[in-house]
Amino acid sequence: MRKQIAAANWKMNGNYQQAEKLLNDILSANVILQDHQQAIFSVPSPFLIMAKTEVGEEGGYDVAAQNCFNKASGAFTGEVSVEMLHSIGINYCIVGHSERREYFAESNAMLAEKVNLCLQSSITPIFCCGEPLNIREANTQNDYVAKQLAESLFHLSDRDVQRIIIAYEPIWAIGTGKTATSLQAQEMHAHLRSVLAGKFGAEVANNISILYGGSVKANNAVEIFSQPDVDGGLVGGASLNAEEFLTIIRSLK
Ligand code: 13P
Repeated sequence: MRKQIAAANWKMNGNYQQAEKLLNDILSANVILQDHQQAIFSVPSPFLIMAKTEVGEEGGYDVAAQNCFNKASGAFTGEVSVEMLHSIGINYCIVGHSERREYFAESNAMLAEKVNLCLQSSITPIFCCGEPLNIREANTQNDYVAKQLAESLFHLSDRDVQRIIIAYEPIWAIGTGKTATSLQAQEMHAHLRSVLAGKFGAEVANNISILYGGSVKANNAVEIFSQPDVDGGLVGGASLNAEEFLTIIRSLK
């Protein structure tokens, strides 16, 4: 079975003490994950080392960075390199979240560079794609997301593309309380998998976990995750509440 993943994206919320408490509250529930299940906490950079220490060697729990820079090192004040992340034991990094694309003008080409740097440092990119509302209203979302994958991932080898996690996050569903229906999520995930299969073959495409993101909550996670091509979720707001996120972890297939 493909990996089923509940990934929290805390975004720019909370302080150190609150982050430590939230992690403790979640980890102390001792939810035992099966081998094919995983929970990942994408925390702000200043909390990465603390979070890594808190999750320790707990099976199935790990930590992700929310971003990295698209150059290896140098005079880029304020940026964080993949080498820095790797050197503190980070195994995952979100790449191309729609908020980065929108507010920091991250292009598909720039994201291809980030993906390459992550893979070179054995960091698994959690690569985000997804369409804005006007594209959904024009019913051109399939071509829109296919282009995002093509321009950021199609240069990879069959082997490397299987080291990526994809997160489909329709922008109109992020933080709005408006989720895609489970049918809309399934249709898009099946489309993404067919785009990957067209380029890399069906066997490769079947090995890639595709997460859904956009107003996943405790009360809709089971329904969304039960879809055959949905392999878990990337969760914003609801991941800031221990009980909500625990329910979401328990909703994994
Ligand atoms: P919400 O779950 O708050 O809609 O955020 C989704 C998201 O952007 C996760 O990366």
